[in-house]
Amino acid sequence: MTSEPPQTPAWDYTLHIPHDPLAPRIARRTLRTILAAYEVHELTDTAELLTSELVTNAHRYARGPASVRIRRDGKRLRVSVWDTDPALPNLTGGAAPDPDDERGRGLGLIRSCADDWGGFTLGETPFGGLGGKLLWFELGAARHV
Ligand SMILES: Nc1ncnc2c1ncn2[C@@H]1O[C@H](COP(=O)(O)OP(=O)(O)OP(=O)(O)O)[C@@H](O)[C@H]1O
Ligand SMILES: [Mg+2]
Repeated sequence: MTSEPPQTPAWDYTLHIPHDPLAPRIARRTLRTILAAYEVHELTDTAELLTSELVTNAHRYARGPASVRIRRDGKRLRVSVWDTDPALPNLTGGAAPDPDDERGRGLGLIRSCADDWGGFTLGETPFGGLGGKLLWFELGAARHV
């Protein structure tokens, strides 16, 4: 009789963050704590770098609070960052930044290091709704084509 390999249980955490310059550091440390507790060592450094870029952007370009959702399902790790600004950045990328440019690298790191990524705006309705937008990336999944 063949036995199925053990399935890793799915899990899901959300960190709500104020519009505060400490938020990227707190998000990085929270992510690291969660991944260490679940022994997801191989994805930690990349997940921390990309989460830091998205949370830093949320602080820099949106005026309100933000949130970070960290989900694991099978081998896939998905990090989603919500912020209050509905404007979506160019996710497909334009020209690479000039070597002397001090800005313009964060989303390029997402594109080159994540297996998949994306973003969408969240509509506001007369009954409420979050508004803003959500940018996400996945590691440990099939490579983005
Ligand atoms: N959360 C966001 N909301 C609105 N616009 C964004 C957001 N994130 C990125 N952008 C836009 O996309 C551009 C590229 O973002 P990216 O993170 O690649 O570079 P940067 O933030 O300008 O510089 P760096 O990340 O290298 O410090 C930004 O300059 C900004 O115009
Ligand atoms: Mg940036």
